[in-house]
Amino acid sequence: MTIAVPLLDLKLQYQSIQAEIEPVVSKVMASQYFVLGPEVEQFEKEIAAYCGAQHAIGCTSGSDALLLALMAIGAQPGDEVLCPSYTFFATAGAIARIGVKPVFVDIDPVTFNMCPKATAQAAAKCQRLRAIMPVHLYGQAADVDGFLELGKRLGVPVIEDAAQAIGARDERGIGVASRCDIGTWSFFPSKNLGCFGDGGLCTTNSAQHDDYMRMARVHGSKVRYYHQFVGFNGRLDALQAAVLRVKLRHLEKWHALRADNAKFYDRAFAAAGALSSDRPIGSASGSDRAASQRGGDAGGIPLRFPWARPAPARHVYNQYVIRTRADLRDDLRAHLSAQKIGSEIYYPVPLHLQECFASLGQGLGSLPESELAAKETVALPIFPELTGEQRAHVAEQIISFLRANTRTTVAV
Ligand SMILES: Cc1ncc(COP(=O)(O)O)c(C=O)c1O
Repeated sequence: MTIAVPLLDLKLQYQSIQAEIEPVVSKVMASQYFVLGPEVEQFEKEIAAYCGAQHAIGCTSGSDALLLALMAIGAQPGDEVLCPSYTFFATAGAIARIGVKPVFVDIDPVTFNMCPKATAQAAAKCQRLRAIMPVHLYGQAADVDGFLELGKRLGVPVIEDAAQAIGARDERGIGVASRCDIGTWSFFPSKNLGCFGDGGLCTTNSAQHDDYMRMARVHGSKVRYYHQFVGFNGRLDALQAAVLRVKLRHLEKWHALRADNAKFYDRAFAAAGALSSDRPIGSASGSDRAASQRGGDAGGIPLRFPWARPAPARHVYNQYVIRTRADLRDDLRAHLSAQKIGSEIYYPVPLHLQECFASLGQGLGSLPESELAAKETVALPIFPELTGEQRAHVAEQIISFLRANTRTTVAV
């Protein structure tokens, strides 16, 4: 019998908390107070404490959180902001939407995150650098100390896009986006803390940024109908805040279950001879490729499980992303799909190669690690409610496919 394993099953999570959710939703409906208000205020206090920031500003989405942050630091048309190419579109979309130029930086292939060294090199070529915007991709902290130091050295603010990384801790064991100028977060349903629709958040330790972003999310006003600047409708709904308050109480447990699933996969893949992502897979040219084409990959399988920074850092596994050889990746996904196992590619086209950014001139070949990651990565089911049987089935199917398909690839 085939065991179906969706990439994500939100219904299971809902069933486990339905009894807690229904009364709070009913309460909001009875109050008919739907936009901002007491639920949002209470949620902002609780989430600020969880994220380790002094201020939290609930907003419409993680995309709008980025927009609020960029407006708060005074980014102007013609300015430049450094961000990774290998991330969800919103990171750069928010920058470009206000006429600012995204300058794409390559990733470190080990962590999939932008690194301070490459960012410093890109900064040296900027004319009007306004901010640095690292992303904590898949739920693993980027090098926060490195970025804060770089921001200080260059005299520009650091905005951390922590949309995928609520609860993640950096190399010092400190919560991501708690030490920078502004942190941005998403409560899109697939996130570790997801709401019942769209929702987002900005966090900051600056009273000035807090004040600005609270105004910006209500069309630039503090007193209704008096507008000090042009903002937009970026408010969080009370229903979403009420749901998020319930879910926040379960978040640590869900993180632990995700980490346990990740540990299981790591061990299963390592036992089959796979290495972690600090060793290249070898889709690129060179001797490593020759080795993997001989079918051996040093005797194991051509798979890299995600390298995680050691404790006190904490990866929260919003996604568990493996790499395999580019020539095997799509066939592996087709095999998984035939076995009713969900998978996804985050992300198939790096942002510097998106049609809408072609005019920026960062063409093919300019950011090789981002381009390679787009060809080699596969995200696997990692959600907290995954059963032991399901995760074992995922690991077995991947291992058996890669074994079968590398044995037949004989070098000449
Ligand atoms: C890295 C990153 N930044 C920004 C966003 C945007 O968040 P939202 O979908 O809530 O607008 C996302 C959402 O997937 C994301 O993953």
